Amino acid sequence: MLKARIAVFVSGGGTNLQALINAQKNGIIKDGEIVLVVASKKDAYALTRAQQNGIASEVVLRKDFDSQDSYEGKLIDLLDENKIDLIVLAGFMSILSGSFTGRYDGRIINVHPSLIPSFCGKGFYGLRVHQAALEYGVKVTGATVHFVNEVTDGGQIILQRAVYVQDGDTPETLQRRVMEEAEWKILPEATQQICKEIAGGR
Ligand code: GAR
Repeated sequence: MLKARIAVFVSGGGTNLQALINAQKNGIIKDGEIVLVVASKKDAYALTRAQQNGIASEVVLRKDFDSQDSYEGKLIDLLDENKIDLIVLAGFMSILSGSFTGRYDGRIINVHPSLIPSFCGKGFYGLRVHQAALEYGVKVTGATVHFVNEVTDGGQIILQRAVYVQDGDTPETLQRRVMEEAEWKILPEATQQICKEIAGGR
């Protein structure tokens, strides 16, 4: 069976990208192959991870384009050239328009560091999500993998995993535990699930 071709979009450290690479190596992701990493920042450490693992990478900066349309046109060209079947947003902090997400309906997934619909939507990203969870005083948080549509963090949920908040947690300690116990597990699992459907359906 032909594997689904995956592009991973990143902006930062890329620990979720690393989890995907590891999952591909150890056979958790068996119906997909990461063929491209796209970064929205030049200094994203995720780019080093791609390079260390022999995965092609591209940096596409929003500020280098006059409009959202021309920015997304560049992304679409890269996706076409690389025959991408599935886009995985792994800590990707650049906004994608409804016209972009509509073009790849059911073919873009995202990992979010909370149990959606809590602590999600505009302004909730990275450490801010964990800060908000701690300020609210929730005792359980977690992570969600969902399809991406025109509503920020509003697409259909694929997988979720809960993580307990502990006394004395800081946004940093909570972020780390949510990554270790939830994100790095459910992102590869959901990726495999969708790749299996894509590969099996052609
Ligand atoms: C992850 O915690 C991811 O869930 C979050 O950014 C971090 C990226 O870390 N994404 C969002 O907040 C999206 N709304 P990484 O670069 O080490 O994978």
